[in-house]
This record gives sequence, structure tokens and C-alpha cells, in this order.
Amino acid sequence: MNEVYEKLQTCMESVRKETDFQPEVALILGSGLGDYADTEVKVEKAIPYSKIQQFPTSTVPGHKGQFVFGYVGDVPVVVMQGRVHYYEGYPMTDVVLPTRLMGSLGAKKLVLTNAAGGVNYHFRPGDFMLIADHITTAIPNPLIGANIDELGVRFPDMSEAYSLRMRDIIKKVAMDMGIYLREGVYAQLTGPTYETPAEIRMIRSWGADAVGMSTACETIAARHMGMEVCGISCITNLAAGMTREKLSHKEVQETADRVAKQFKQLVTGVIENI
Ligand code: HPA
Repeated sequence: MNEVYEKLQTCMESVRKETDFQPEVALILGSGLGDYADTEVKVEKAIPYSKIQQFPTSTVPGHKGQFVFGYVGDVPVVVMQGRVHYYEGYPMTDVVLPTRLMGSLGAKKLVLTNAAGGVNYHFRPGDFMLIADHITTAIPNPLIGANIDELGVRFPDMSEAYSLRMRDIIKKVAMDMGIYLREGVYAQLTGPTYETPAEIRMIRSWGADAVGMSTACETIAARHMGMEVCGISCITNLAAGMTREKLSHKEVQETADRVAKQFKQLVTGVIENI
């Protein structure tokens, strides 16, 4: 058996020893949403990553590192509290393993959230951006290596990576809540350095509106296995070179925390309506 697939099966067995919960929607929490499950989810079961055999454990401070199973309204969800980033040193196949795991557990839909730098000059810190498309040219593709035929095809189509159906619903949900939603293209770079001003000019010329260090690789893995995907970025700062300010994780965290309440409200509305 393919060793990436074998690892996925091992993780599945670990989880299934703990719970037989059947999620419909998978949710990955980005910066600022870390405590989403504490307030918005009727929790049935939490499984720390450390309890899952062979699972990559997150090293980012402020990321809790567990799966939470429960209900948002009436919707059965699995929430990834603390994602795995490529810059932590894991191979891309490990970075997307949690996504594949949540898909294998039965989640047909994936809601992605993150903190991102604004590349589009119209954006302001605290804005929300619905992800319309992504650019992953600057990171290794998570599907590189032998194809896992059990999950999907060798050459997956990416012409609608982010579901048009979900995007239409999300725009309506945001409008009904009075939340102003931007829409744009998310570019994933590896991090952990923030970008240089020259790199930001480059990705702007490529067509990016926001930049970050996660998410798009998860979309690829999810689409490969046929999940329907949507994503929302919290624009926490303007990207490098766009202001005189230096970039810091503190600023990212502060903005994310400032708008966290609204972000949580939006995500709950999204889950209940998609
Ligand atoms: N660049 C990359 N990742 C980020 C940024 C940024 O400016 N802000 C939040 N995450």
C-alpha cells in the first residue's frame, strides 16, 4: 500500500477507536478563531492530536492541537483546532493529512479559515475576504508522489477549487449579517518569513489579493478527494512594503482577535447554510 495512504488509515483507526461520530462539515480554524469550538460548537468529543498515532502535532504557540466533534446548530461538524503548517518542517503529505482524515471520516464539505496579509491596495486590516481562487505555484503541490487512487485521480481539475454554490450562499449570509465581504485570490507561500516587498509586488502581478502560509494546499487535497470547499481569510495586515510598518505575528494576532467575534458569527452562519 502507498505509505501516505497507510498513515491515513492508521490515523483513521486511532480516531475510530475514540468516536464513531459522522461529520458532514469539516472546519479548519485559523488565527483568531482558536476558541471557536469553545463557544460555537455543542461538543460531543475532543481528540488531542497526540492521541492519534503518527499524527503531525502543531508547534505554533496559540494553536491548541485537537479535533473537536460536535454540532453547529444541527450540523454535525469536525473542527480542526490548530492546523499543521509546511514551515513547521513537515512534508506536504503530512500537512494535508488532517484534511484527508476529516474527509475520510465522512465530511463532504470543508470550510477553511485563515489570517492573511492584504495584497490588494483596496483591502484594510480587519476585512474578510471570500477566497475565489488560489495560487500555489510557490509551494510544493501536496499531491506530488505516487497518486493515491483510493482518494482521487492523478490529474485533478482545479477550475472551481472554491465552490461557486457555497460562495453564493456565503455572500448572502454575510450580507444578511451586515458583514462586508471582499472576494479575491489567495496566494500561499511557504513562510515562515513574511514576504519581501518585491515578493508582494510579484504575487500582485500574478493576480493575488491576499497572501498567507496555509489553506491552499488543504484545498488541493480536499478537492482531490471530491470534497466541496470554501474559504474565508481575515485580512490582518497589509502585506510587506505596502505601509511603513514592519510585519509581526503580534499585529496579525491583534487584528485577528479584534474581529474574532464577527468572524465566528460569520463562520457559524456559513456552516448552518452551506
Ligand atoms: N504574509 C503571510 N502570511 C500572513 C500575513 C502576511 O502578511 N499576514 C497573516 N498571515
